[in-house]
Amino acid sequence: MDLHENEMLTRVGPGTAAGETLRKYWLPVGFSSEISCEMPKLVRWLGEDLLLFRDEFGRVGLIHPYCAHRGTSLDYGWIEAGGIRCCYHGWVYDVNGRCIEQPGEPASSTFKDKITLKAYRVRELGGIIWAYMGAGVPPRCPIIIFSCVTMASEITLVMSVSAITCSS
Ligand code: FES
Repeated sequence: MDLHENEMLTRVGPGTAAGETLRKYWLPVGFSSEISCEMPKLVRWLGEDLLLFRDEFGRVGLIHPYCAHRGTSLDYGWIEAGGIRCCYHGWVYDVNGRCIEQPGEPASSTFKDKITLKAYRVRELGGIIWAYMGAGVPPRCPIIIFSCVTMASEITLVMSVSAITCSS
C-alpha cells in the first residue's frame, strides 16, 4: 500500500474519501448509559470533536462543542432550559444546535435565532446512540437490523422454551 492509498483509507474527516463514505451511514457514537442530564460528554468521531449530551427532557444531542459567542467549550456548561448552557455568558443551545437563549440580550432581541451550531441527527435505540453525520436524507436507521437481532434472540428463546416444554 502506498502513501496515497494509506491516506485515502485512513483519513476520515469531512471531505475525505473514507470520511464521506462513512458519513452515508448511521454510526454508533455512544451508549445511552454514558450520558446523563448532569454530565455532557466530549467525543471525537470521524475526526470531529463533538459534544454528546442529554437534555432534561431526555432528548440526545450531538453538536459542535464550542460556543458560537466566544468559543468556550460547552462541556463546562450545564444542562437546563431545554439545552446546554454555556458557562461563560449563558447562551443555551438545544439538541439541534439552535441557540435558544441569550441572557445578555434584550428580551425583544431575535439575535439568538441567527445562531446555530453544527448538529447531527441522533437516534437512541437499544441502549446505543446512533448518529448520521452525512448530508441530505439519511438512510433507514438500523432499528430494522437491531430489531431482527432482538427478534432472532426472542425466537431462539421461544423455540428453546417450546423444546423444553415438548420434551417434559
Ligand atoms: S462564550 Fe458562550 S455565552 Fe459567551
